[in-house]
Amino acid sequence: MRIDVLTLFPEAFTGPLDVSIVRRAREDGLLDLHVHDIREHATDRHRSVDDYPFGGGQGMVMRVDVLDRALGHVQSLGTEAGLVVLLTPAGERLTDALVRELATHGRLVLVCGRYEGVDERFAEHCVDREISIGDYVLTGGELPAMVLIDAVARHVPGVLGDEVSPEEESFVQGLLEHPQYTRPAEYRGWAVPEVLLSGHHANVSKWKQEQRLRRTRERRPDLLDAGGHLRKPDERETGELQSDGAP
Ligand code: ADE
Repeated sequence: MRIDVLTLFPEAFTGPLDVSIVRRAREDGLLDLHVHDIREHATDRHRSVDDYPFGGGQGMVMRVDVLDRALGHVQSLGTEAGLVVLLTPAGERLTDALVRELATHGRLVLVCGRYEGVDERFAEHCVDREISIGDYVLTGGELPAMVLIDAVARHVPGVLGDEVSPEEESFVQGLLEHPQYTRPAEYRGWAVPEVLLSGHHANVSKWKQEQRLRRTRERRPDLLDAGGHLRKPDERETGELQSDGAP
């Protein structure tokens, strides 16, 4: 998979994407990541990328002409056009289902917003999807882009190797994961649950499922319906407001 990132802060992308699984995916050629500086497409003397909002209001808005030129240039660098994603707190919420859908694309172009936002004409005419990583506002789309890249990379075939399957993890069955333990079996008087040491596979499986349900009930009741049963994926995590106003 090829991912191009458009940002005013390319230097932000060194670090998180240079370690561990994502690093290996890049080295193995499974993830082809390119980071581009939007400012290189500014044409005026001051190399400006933003301006005051029409109609007044606080902050600065990223210019449609600069963004459009930057995107056109980046799209021309690949053999296929990438799906264009704008990271913005005003987008649809990133969920496990959306991560999987994005991972089916051969190429993504991620645009990181800064300042008060981007000129709406860019979003309307040049962007395929606007995505938020959660209901809080960050200083820009760089961290959200890195979150998205990390989450998507795990679903690119070969990236996780044979040991780990994304199918067995939280949100796939719609439940949180059960707790995990390793040696020593006792530490400072804190014991590992007896059943895990028993070697009784059926009891271990039952315990894990009970723990997944208990955790989900306690920590994420929004994943369950009123009867305590799993909600179907299309009934949860949409990010839409419910009738009671809760997110
Ligand atoms: N930019 C600022 N906050 C953001 C968020 N929560 N998700 C995506 N992009 C953002």
